[in-house]
Formats: sequence, structure tokens, C-alpha cells
Amino acid sequence: MGHLLSASLLSADFCNLGRDIQAINESETDWFHVDVMDGLFVPNISFGQPVIKHINSLAKKPLDIHLMIMNPDRYFEDFKNCGADILSVHYEACTHLHRSLDRIKQLGMKSGVVLNPHTPVCLLEDIIYMCDLVVLMSVNPGFGGQRFIETTYDKVSRLKELIERKACDCLIEVDGGVTVDNHRRLVECGTDVLVAGSAVFSSEDPMKTIVELKK
Ligand code: DX5
Ligand code: ZN
Repeated sequence: MGHLLSASLLSADFCNLGRDIQAINESETDWFHVDVMDGLFVPNISFGQPVIKHINSLAKKPLDIHLMIMNPDRYFEDFKNCGADILSVHYEACTHLHRSLDRIKQLGMKSGVVLNPHTPVCLLEDIIYMCDLVVLMSVNPGFGGQRFIETTYDKVSRLKELIERKACDCLIEVDGGVTVDNHRRLVECGTDVLVAGSAVFSSEDPMKTIVELKK
């Protein structure tokens, strides 16, 4: 299987969200990446469940929801009802991560854990078997259009090694600053899912960029 592409709607045109979702539906993109921010865990606020419900009503591909919020467990059921297929929580925002992942799975969603750039992969040693997805942040979360942190390549390799050593069935996603210039090296290191926001939506030719990112 080749790598997957998850288009981050954070960089879409919010005045024409329906149009942009339609364009992604018709492209080679695999998932919709949906960034939820609470203004506490990250210094920015994005959008919440009412908007996601509308996204889901148009989206013809799975919703990959990235929760950048404190105490995310309060809303798992709501996100399930909004149409979440994959629900990812931050390691740094969950005191009882095992319980959180267990609940996400019980609700019938795929479970994801996100690591900030400063959080080492080795902290997943005893929880990796519960993860369907691990998301490595390659920028500090909160904003689209930031510069890729170069140490991420090595982090992907270390995560890949952990997944193989534990014989787990877990995908590696990289989120932040992914471009047509760094995507190939990320895939070579073991990345299964590339998130791309501004690379796609700020491109002069988004469809061409998607084809490039899928190569
Ligand atoms: C950042 C978000 C990302 C963001 C990526 O906090 O988690 O998903 O949309 O945007 P780009 O691809 O522009 O770095
Ligand atoms: Zn994200």
C-alpha cells in the first residue's frame, strides 16, 4: 500500500468550504484532516462540532479529527456523532491516556495519539498497542503554514522501530509543514499518512500539488 494523504481543512477557504470539500472529494486525497483547537491547549481557536457536522455531510472520505483541546474525553461522544472516523488526542493533554483510547475504541472510532515536537517517542512504549495511529507534530500545533521541524525524520524512524519491535498495527502520520519538497523523505523514513494544509490550499494548482504529494 502506498502512503495516504490527509488534507487539512484549516487552510481551506472558510467562505467556500463546500467548494473546497468537493474538490478534495474528487481528488486522490485519502482523508480529511480536521483540526479542533480550544484556545487553551493551543493559543488558537478553530471550529467545533456544528461546522464538523456540515463537513461530514459533504465529505466522501474519512474524517481524521485532530483534537488540540484540554480534557478531550468530555467530547468523544459528540465527535462520534459528528462523523469522526479517526479521533486523535494529544499525549500532553491526557492524564489517563489508556482510558481515553479505550473509550474512543468503544465508541467505534480509530484511536490516535499525537506527540508535540518535544515529546519523545519512547513515552509510547506501554501504550502503542492501543494506538491505530500515532501523529508526530512536525510544527508546534496551533497554526497552519509553519516551517517543518527537521528532527522529525529521525523521530519517524524511531517510531517505526518501536511499532515493528512491538509488532503493532499502527499507522504513522506526520502533521505540519509537509510540502512537495519533504514528503518523499518522510515516506522513505516510514510515514504512512501525510497531512497537508497550506501546501494544498495555498497552491496555485491544488490538484497538481495533491498528485505530487501522492507520488
Ligand atoms: C497545526 C495543525 C495542522 C495544520 C497543518 O496545528 O495540526 O494540521 O493544519 O498545516 P500546514 O500543512 O500548513 O503546516
Ligand atoms: Zn492537525
